[in-house]
Amino acid sequence: MSVSGLSFRPATPDDASFAARLMYNIACRDFDTLFTGLAAGLSPRDVVETFYRAPGGMFSWHNTEIALHDGLPAGIITAYSVASRSGSAAWLARAAAQLGARALVLLAWRGVIVARAVQRNTPGSWFIAFVGVDPTQQSLGIGSSLIERSIQKARRAGCSCVELDVDVDNPRAQALYERLGFHVVHTERQRTFSLVVESRRMTLQLHA
Ligand SMILES: CC(C)(COP(=O)(O)OP(=O)(O)OC[C@H]1O[C@@H](n2cnc3c(N)ncnc32)[C@H](O)[C@@H]1OP(=O)(O)O)[C@@H](O)C(=O)NCCC(=O)NCCS
Repeated sequence: MSVSGLSFRPATPDDASFAARLMYNIACRDFDTLFTGLAAGLSPRDVVETFYRAPGGMFSWHNTEIALHDGLPAGIITAYSVASRSGSAAWLARAAAQLGARALVLLAWRGVIVARAVQRNTPGSWFIAFVGVDPTQQSLGIGSSLIERSIQKARRAGCSCVELDVDVDNPRAQALYERLGFHVVHTERQRTFSLVVESRRMTLQLHA
């Protein structure tokens, strides 16, 4: 599907308001559980924005591309080569430390940093950590275009495969990834703090 009026650009820190709102709105249940009360005066959405502004990691602007529809931000994708991600847990710990010692301790205690550290990615793979499209702009082909562009980046980076996780209760997103060639590798049940997430790891093998 080709979408008219669609363009793309690398994200910048100035996109924080749009990107953090989208990330937060799509996964607010998880963020509310994990990020509430981390630092005085900061809501879970503010914490997402702080992590977006960090220079690395799975929420970072540095790893994010923005889709614009008729010149206005409509969607984002955050993805990176696993070999060069410098450890998502390390970035998260560094970003949390900027919020103060209490935030760091709480995130460690809630298991968030550990969960990132043990996240099983294939070395040499490309990991799509987040893809989201503004609810008013969904089903227009924007998400597919963002993912297809990310796959091309993975090829250019010489990655062996592209990996992502999809919640078991999100069959529409899973169907989209299957249309783009991804296959389910395994289903995993992970517990972080009081959050239980059942997700499917999906992979797209890249051939030279
Ligand atoms: C999933 C998502 C990124 C796809 O982007 P998009 O621009 O809507 O997708 P496209 O228009 O390229 O493709 C349409 C397909 O995407 C999927 N899709 C569309 N809206 C969706 C939604 N609200 N939630 C999940 N998947 C959706 C469906 O498979 C849809 O095909 P269908 O209309 O035949 O059901 C986007 O819908 C979204 O942000 N959804 C909410 C957040 C989410 O589920 N993120 C993925 C987490 S793994």
